[in-house]
Amino acid sequence: MLTTHSLNVISVRPEPGVVSISIERPQRQTLHTLDVWQQWSPPAADGNHRLLVAVKEDDSSLVFVSPTDNAPHTLIAGSTGSGKSVLMQNIILSIACTNTPEQARIILIDPKMGVDYFAFEGLPHLGDGIIEEQEHAIETLNGLIEEMNRRYSIIKANRCSNVFELNRKSDATERLPCLWVIHDEFAEWMMTETYSQTVANVVSRLTVKARAAGIFLIFAAQRPDNQVMPMQLRSNLGNRLILRVDSEGTSEIALGGEKGAERLLGRGHMAAKLEGHMGLIYCQVPMLSSTEIAQMVAAASSTAK
Ligand SMILES: Nc1ncnc2c1ncn2[C@@H]1O[C@H](COP(=O)(O)OP(=O)(O)OP(=O)(O)O)[C@@H](O)[C@H]1O
Ligand SMILES: [Mg+2]
Repeated sequence: MLTTHSLNVISVRPEPGVVSISIERPQRQTLHTLDVWQQWSPPAADGNHRLLVAVKEDDSSLVFVSPTDNAPHTLIAGSTGSGKSVLMQNIILSIACTNTPEQARIILIDPKMGVDYFAFEGLPHLGDGIIEEQEHAIETLNGLIEEMNRRYSIIKANRCSNVFELNRKSDATERLPCLWVIHDEFAEWMMTETYSQTVANVVSRLTVKARAAGIFLIFAAQRPDNQVMPMQLRSNLGNRLILRVDSEGTSEIALGGEKGAERLLGRGHMAAKLEGHMGLIYCQVPMLSSTEIAQMVAAASSTAK
């Protein structure tokens, strides 16, 4: 197809009664987050935990990741420039613009020293601001276990089964915000023994009870291979949002056995594999300009007061 017709085939997929072939268009269109959000009506009163991450290639429907419909934790992967940080910006705004700080809190860890995220500093959901030091990150991650146990006893004392039920209960003793732990450039620090041990320990202890306790992890790495991410750790991050990767091998690691991410086009072109959903969802992440981010952060901050 490429040599004879100059057509770049991205994927060939069997579907019931159909063979579906995706081909690169001569010109790509940039999707804008604010336009995409026009089609979104998140729930207003009780907060929202369905994150809008992309638009589906097949039918332009919206792609959501949710810790209740899908797995509680998420892995993002993609080579440099593939659009991981832009995806994470979309995720942060998805949380901050649809929840008050009482409904959702964000812990943002960025070893790259905040170049992608400085515009988010002012978000009231962020609490202590962006974490850029390894020791601070270790302390915060270790603190999550205690927080999970604390949450568990509050949920139990109120005879509920999870935070969502607790927060809906009119006579609850305490309400608990969902806690989103968003970690960019995760591999950067995994070469440090203490760091990788802390992360492995925290993630494995968070797997069983985290969904009920409302603590959700979103980790991004360029290549989630065994050196930076032991298999056990990777398997605990059940939702996969995979952007373009360098090789078939990396695609198989990132998507849990499937090729295809090496043929994605970059700049937010994504293959999502979500727990509870068969097969890969090919989709496009929308883009945010820095002015749009500033406007949305200002809007999220003013409504929070
Ligand atoms: N969804 C998108 N739509 C259009 N362009 C995009 C999109 N995502 C990323 N890009 C383009 O690619 C550039 C790099 O994106 P981004 O910083 O998110 O990559 P990254 O995967 O985080 O890279 P690194 O590993 O180097 O941090 C952006 O500045 C933008 O120009
Ligand atoms: Mg980045």
